[in-house]
This record gives sequence, C-alpha cells and structure tokens, in this order.
Amino acid sequence: MSTRVHTTERLTVSPAGGSAGAYVTGVDLSKANDAEEIAGIRRALLDHLVVALPDQKLSLDDLERFTDALGGRDITPFVRPIEGRPHVIRILKEPHEKLNFANAWHTDLSYLDAPPSFTVLYCLETPSIGGDTVWANQYMAFETLSAGLRDTLLGLNAVHSAGPAYGTGGYLDGVKDKMSTKIEPSKDAYKEQVHPAVIAHAETAKPALYLNPVYTQRIAGWSKAESDGLLGYVFRHSVNENFTWRLKWAKGTLAIWDNRCTQHFALNDYHGQRREMVRTSVKGSKPKAARA
Ligand code: SIN
Repeated sequence: MSTRVHTTERLTVSPAGGSAGAYVTGVDLSKANDAEEIAGIRRALLDHLVVALPDQKLSLDDLERFTDALGGRDITPFVRPIEGRPHVIRILKEPHEKLNFANAWHTDLSYLDAPPSFTVLYCLETPSIGGDTVWANQYMAFETLSAGLRDTLLGLNAVHSAGPAYGTGGYLDGVKDKMSTKIEPSKDAYKEQVHPAVIAHAETAKPALYLNPVYTQRIAGWSKAESDGLLGYVFRHSVNENFTWRLKWAKGTLAIWDNRCTQHFALNDYHGQRREMVRTSVKGSKPKAARA
C-alpha cells in the first residue's frame, strides 16, 4: 500500500492509515463524474480498500448516479429501502435508542451468490463525538497467517447465511422495534450460500480471507465443533488492530469500501446523540477461489 499522496490533474488521494484508508479530494460527486474521475476513485479503492470523500453535498439522485457509475446499484435485502428508492437504505440511530446497525464485524451481504463489490455510505448527520466506522484489511489478515494455516484455508469453502441476523426469529427480529433502521426479517434469510474461505479479489487477483462472524456459519463439510474452533481463531485474527483503519465521520463525508477485501464495524459509543446515513451497494460478482 502506497503511503505517498497521489495527485492527478483531477483528484488527490491522501493515504490515511498504514493498513487501509485514504481521503480523496478534488472531486464533486454532485456533478455527473467523467470516466477519468471514476477511474481515479476506483484506483484509490483498489490501492487503499476504503476511501472517504469529505464535504460532499449530495441528493439521493446524486448518490444513485454515482453508485451506477461505480458499477451499478444493487438491492440490500432485509432492510426496508427509502420510499421510491429501492436501492437506498437509511441507517439511523435516534438519541433515545441504545442499539445501532452493523455493530459487529462483517462483510456486507456475503450470504448472496454475488455479493456487492463496494458499499457507498453518505453521512447526513453524525454525533459530535463517537459513531466512527472501523475497517480491517483482509489481504493482510490472510498474509499474516502461518504458511500451514494459509494452505489449509486455501482448500476450504464456507457456508454463509443471513438467517441468524435477519431471519424470522433471528437476532434482529427480536430487537427491530428498538431500532430506527428498518429491518425486515424474513424466512428467506436462512438460505445458505457457499463461498471459498480465501477468495481471489476480482480485480487485483490478490488472495483475501472471506470469512466473517455475522454471516459465515461454518466450514463446509466440517462438524460444528470443528468449524467453531477454526472460525473462532480466524475471526479474532482477521480484525487484529494492526489491520484496521478508523474513520471519524463529518456531515457530507461519503465513504466507499471494497467488500472483497475488508470487514467493517460501526461503533455504538454515542448514546443520546443522532446519527443518520444513507447507503447503497454496487453490484459485484460471485467470489472465486484464490486456489483454482
Ligand atoms: C454498514 O455496515 O453498512 C453500516 C456502517 C456504519 O453505519 O458505519
């Protein structure tokens, strides 16, 4: 990962963390962005995994247009979208609420056959302190395992499902009335999807761990006890502080992250304050194994 500020005629990419994260300035996303700007943002994402563009003034039309330019908007299952905007969800915690959305390490929608490549999150309101988001670099998580465990994981597949989180009778069904983010539990969430434990990133081809504690249920073909043992270790290792970058939001910041090589976690440390975001997903492809 480059630590140098990279400036083109059109945009500046300033690395913000040693393991992930960069600020991109010089682009106004409220205007239709040309191919050079979109390519510059995509390049920054491939290099830094998460990018933040401060001081954007966006309508929902702008957000949708930008999402399309990045690769096409996709739906987010099991969260009710904004009225008339089937691809945009609102993530909201009101001052009286105690629970927030995404307060656990995860990779967005890994339970789908073709999970989103990128997630786009735009900040409408943020607490004066707290409410940061943290990302962990999953290339690093893989590289820093022993050769023996890397070799084992390269031969494994894992079963993903949204059931325990979004299924009827699942965790969020039990607490949905305490959250302003509109959760829509469904029996369909229990559907299972198998993905390689280590994927080859669809654009960089680099190997990345693709196991996360919210959606990865077990190693395919292993008993629950065996699986829990290995996954417990890998889940802890994957989010080692050394692999992380933490963003402090401000109103108007838009962040984009690459779900093919990161996990993320939304902190819940701002009780009594309001935080409001809107989110879209960019279409992705079926993850491919790092070992063909
Ligand atoms: C998410 O996981 O999409 C939400 C992240 C956040 O609210 O910071």
